[in-house]
Amino acid sequence: MTVQLGEGIETIETGGVIELHLDRPDKKNALTATMYRTMTAALGEAMERADVDAVLIAGKGGDFCAGNDLKDFQSGPEGGSAAFDFVRAIATFEKPIVVAVQGLAVGVGTTMLLHCDLVYAAPDARFLTPFVNLGLVPEAASSLLAPMRMGHAKAAQMLLLGEPMDAESADKAGLVTAIVPADQLLAHARAKAAALAAKPPQALAQTRRLMKGDLAPIKARMDEESRLFRECMQSAEAREAFTAFFEKRPPIFRREGKP
Ligand code: COA
Repeated sequence: MTVQLGEGIETIETGGVIELHLDRPDKKNALTATMYRTMTAALGEAMERADVDAVLIAGKGGDFCAGNDLKDFQSGPEGGSAAFDFVRAIATFEKPIVVAVQGLAVGVGTTMLLHCDLVYAAPDARFLTPFVNLGLVPEAASSLLAPMRMGHAKAAQMLLLGEPMDAESADKAGLVTAIVPADQLLAHARAKAAALAAKPPQALAQTRRLMKGDLAPIKARMDEESRLFRECMQSAEAREAFTAFFEKRPPIFRREGKP
């Protein structure tokens, strides 16, 4: 077993599986540009190496991930491009990904799951994609994949209203594979990753490729989302939403003709 401690990401390698543990619990594992870059590099390495069969992603502390680090995002395009590089890497990754989700999965903490294969959730898991509340549009092709996965009406509840989905509803909506007691979650995910690593690699890879189908519409949607997301980041709406978050107050969005 090899353990590497990065800034905010702990990488553990064991028997054909690379584990990426989001390790910034004081900020609910919100992802900085450095964390994104570490994960993108790890996915690249996992893709290249013949002795790596699967990847496992988990979060340390009580929550999976609070999404993009909002401070990093505010500080310039650097954070944004690291995030887009990561979502492109996970969307085009060619080996199975197993995830263990406990507590909050916000923004990319939820949208990345749409590209993973086996998603195990603790009963307290809550999935939340509040892009619109931040004056932003969704990313990681979630504007395409969420309606496809769960139907427009459920996706609208998440992407238009920004309402959280609990573990049971997420299970019903097809976002998670199974709900597992919190104290068994990581062990369960590890056992499933090990089970995948024991399969015949070629048949496994081909089966997964067939299941994923044509990635071209997903890549095209990510490009469109990325263009709109960058535009939104410059908007007065987003500025107000981000400022309100750090001032710990509700945002005030004004509209022409409305007081
Ligand atoms: N970026 C940067 N910091 C974040 C963060 C994020 N996405 N999410 C949480 N944090 C920080 C908080 O600022 C706080 O830091 P502080 O202790 O220095 O004040 C700490 O993590 C704990 O968060 P807090 O808001 O006190 O916890 P909570 O349980 O009341 O609420 C959330 C948790 C996740 C609902 C809330 O933090 C939140 O809405 N975060 C923003 C999520 C988001 O919009 N992500 C981007 C989606 S695109």
